[in-house]
Amino acid sequence: MAAVTASQTAQTAAGGEAGPDAALQAAFDAAVAADERIEPRDWMPDAYRASLVRQMAQHAHSEIIGMQPEANWITRAPSLRRKAILMAKVQDEAGHGLYLYSAAETLGTGREELLDKLHAGRQRYSSIFNYPTLTWADVGAIGWLVDGAAITNQVPLCRCSYGPYARAMVRICKEESFHQRQGYELLLALSNGTPAQHEMAQDAVNRWWWPSLMMFGPPDDASAHSAQSMAWKIKRHSNDELRQRFVDICVPQAEALGLTLPDPDLRWNEERGRHDFGAIDWTEFQEVLKGNGPCNEQRLTQRRRAHEEGAWVREAAAAYARKHTPGADPAVRNGKATA
Ligand SMILES: [Fe+2]
Ligand SMILES: [Fe+2]
Repeated sequence: MAAVTASQTAQTAAGGEAGPDAALQAAFDAAVAADERIEPRDWMPDAYRASLVRQMAQHAHSEIIGMQPEANWITRAPSLRRKAILMAKVQDEAGHGLYLYSAAETLGTGREELLDKLHAGRQRYSSIFNYPTLTWADVGAIGWLVDGAAITNQVPLCRCSYGPYARAMVRICKEESFHQRQGYELLLALSNGTPAQHEMAQDAVNRWWWPSLMMFGPPDDASAHSAQSMAWKIKRHSNDELRQRFVDICVPQAEALGLTLPDPDLRWNEERGRHDFGAIDWTEFQEVLKGNGPCNEQRLTQRRRAHEEGAWVREAAAAYARKHTPGADPAVRNGKATA
């Protein structure tokens, strides 16, 4: 918030009839209405804070769980170039998780707490990462479709009303755009390769297309959080609007790739100036969310194991930070410290 901070408004309204809470709420509403950013020290409604923590946690969890299906192919990448690109991409996803956990910390929710909830199955990650990566072409399909859907979802989040989230998204979107292009380029190479490679690319697109459309979440009339998130300007467009946008972007790209999208109902609608597309199997979506997707158990088990195996790294990092924190007990500081 810039023009009028919540604390200023609270002071001026302290003795007023409406009371400080109403004044704070009014300042918050005015800031959101004026497209100003809400910053960590600003007053915000508890429900706004809780909604942001829920969304940012789910987003952060998706970034780090999303490392698994692609990391699966690092050792089997078909060339050194492809291996280097894939490693860089998977590392980027770890970085995205880091930015987002850090952004969530500005709301008073620690990373440890969020990870505990993820590991206990009490917070979600994107349903897309519960599908397996069966062939090398899946790496391309994920880059093109999954990172592509993520960009469509996330570019508007760069204008999210909460400052730290919006700023984290700016950098994330730049990197996602690289991810999308590497996937597209990988699929293009396969599509123009041998008949078997072309077939592999088509098969991957057939399997990833529908789950990618599900990434935008349930239809607007069934989306529990959408309307409030849009009122708070956390979200700028509805699930259905973003999904439509994604379909319209992908159709010409699929043509350029020489691949088809697995939807017999997909066609240009002259009147709407957009593509019509077939019905999404929301039962499958709900089943995956409930934990019954092909890889739910594998993903969480691997995540818990990685967390346990990383305990020594966290301890070492904490010890290092203690030693290098100005004013820390000299006895625990590095040998350079003097008593
Ligand atoms: Fe990412
Ligand atoms: Fe990505």
